[in-house]
Amino acid sequence: MDRFDGVKVLLTGAGSGIGRATALRLVAEGAAVYGVDLSGEGLERTAAAAAGPGRIVTGVADVSDEAEVMESVRAAAGALGGIDVLVNAAGIHRSTPVDRLAVADMERLFAVNVVGTAVFCREALPHLPDGSGVIVNVASSAASHGNPYMSAYAASKGAVLGFSLSLAAEVAHRGIRVVPVSPGSVATPLAGPHVLPPDLDTAYYARIRALFGTAQPEQIAGVIAFAASRDAAYLTGAEIRADGGSHI
Ligand SMILES: NC(=O)c1ccc[n+]([C@@H]2O[C@H](COP(=O)([O-])OP(=O)(O)OC[C@H]3O[C@@H](n4cnc5c(N)ncnc54)[C@H](O)[C@@H]3O)[C@@H](O)[C@H]2O)c1
Repeated sequence: MDRFDGVKVLLTGAGSGIGRATALRLVAEGAAVYGVDLSGEGLERTAAAAAGPGRIVTGVADVSDEAEVMESVRAAAGALGGIDVLVNAAGIHRSTPVDRLAVADMERLFAVNVVGTAVFCREALPHLPDGSGVIVNVASSAASHGNPYMSAYAASKGAVLGFSLSLAAEVAHRGIRVVPVSPGSVATPLAGPHVLPPDLDTAYYARIRALFGTAQPEQIAGVIAFAASRDAAYLTGAEIRADGGSHI
């Protein structure tokens, strides 16, 4: 379990769910993690739960704010002494029937999920080492699998997936890997029952449910850790869909 000994990781969304589980996993494997989130309270809970041999420092920032992203990357590089790995896990969800789609909701989804991810990549790339730098972007199985009321969220995650594949091609000459990880349904605050409109025909979800049930965030953290590790040295520009068999 020493895959991340001395590895410096910048991780967004570290205050909850998949991001928190990933931070805990990487710290347990020896990484020095700089965790970013909008929620200072979430970051405090993550830091309190982290157990070495690695370590975690945190900084509050809104990933949709370009100036805050630039400052976060500077702070992370300073605090860690560089950045080897970037994991973009911050994200938001909206479930909306298309006839009630609000432009403001759609713009917020894209600002956080797409633009936030892209600007973190732009700012972190100059720091990533040639030959070993890695970016893992958390997309979603919604990027390639239709679900009612999820069109706006799915569009944002499809954009994260497409962005990641093109970026992988663009930075391959530097030996930097870019891996989009697409979870299915994961038990986190983002995916609670409250996100489904009350009039949704849930029979649809019964038909397409994951054969392995709902994932725990730790199960996705394990996949992200693999994608970010040297065990995945030949993996780039390929989506890892960790959806418990819901596409079968
Ligand atoms: N839970 C699922 O079923 C599921 C499925 C597929 C993909 N995902 C994706 O996984 C990622 C993590 O989601 P999660 O399920 O752990 O949700 P979560 O709500 O538990 O965690 C998301 C974190 O992102 C942070 N965040 C939101 N907006 C932010 C902003 N503007 N700036 C900084 N931080 C912000 C939140 O504060 C929160 O701590 C997201 O990108 C999500 O879209 C989740």
